[in-house]
Amino acid sequence: KEIVIYNEVESTNSKANELLKQGYPSGTVVVADRQTKGKGRLGRKWISPSGKNLYMSIALKPDIPPKYATLLTLTSVVACTTALRRYTDIPVMIKWPNDMLIDDKKIGGILTEMKIEGEKIKSAIVGIGINVNMTEEDIPEEIKEIASSLKIYRGEDFSREILTVEIIKEFDKWYQLLEKRQRKTIIDRWMQLSGTIGRQVKIVLADREIVATAEAIDEEGRLIVKLNDGTYEKICAGDVTLLR
Ligand code: BTN
Repeated sequence: KEIVIYNEVESTNSKANELLKQGYPSGTVVVADRQTKGKGRLGRKWISPSGKNLYMSIALKPDIPPKYATLLTLTSVVACTTALRRYTDIPVMIKWPNDMLIDDKKIGGILTEMKIEGEKIKSAIVGIGINVNMTEEDIPEEIKEIASSLKIYRGEDFSREILTVEIIKEFDKWYQLLEKRQRKTIIDRWMQLSGTIGRQVKIVLADREIVATAEAIDEEGRLIVKLNDGTYEKICAGDVTLLR
């Protein structure tokens, strides 16, 4: 397997997808120093200045049923959070489905882009963005309240190279568990690292907004919440805000 490193790309996700189409094998990793069109979830952009942060994508042809597609993202965030904790010793938490937080501020996220054909996942690009050495000045005013970096928290620089290697190693381990159908191991670890479970959350869905308590995630990776009237609901996609 290969790790392909670029100075500049539009988006490591798009580049990884191109390489996969050109015949690079499943497991190919793309890393870039900066992105000119970094993509976030829900059509947002991902701030991607040079020399500071980690932008990487893993191109995969996962041998899992499409039903478990969201589990791939949960697996990735478990791997990243575990690697981050090991290398930095900072108590990084997961916010459903795939945000990495320190003190309730976002320091990283994952964008998974998949092509599903019939009963098979044809390709999946797992894109990982982590704010490593960004300073307060590097963060745009609009997101200062909700975004942070490892450096802002700790006051010192971290090595992007070491972190990249740690994430790849950890990803390899968790991805193998996923392909071996060890879903419970992955979900248990996700719950352990999660700052979402047990909290009051506000969820913005396509057609409405709900406030509820996050109870668990199910084996397809959906968030199970308990509404104030005592009923339960399963959430597949939405924007979650932690309340208390
Ligand atoms: C999110 O919105 O939380 C997901 C952010 C994902 C950003 C990463 S940076 C590397 C990869 N390439 C992209 O264009 N996006 C992802």
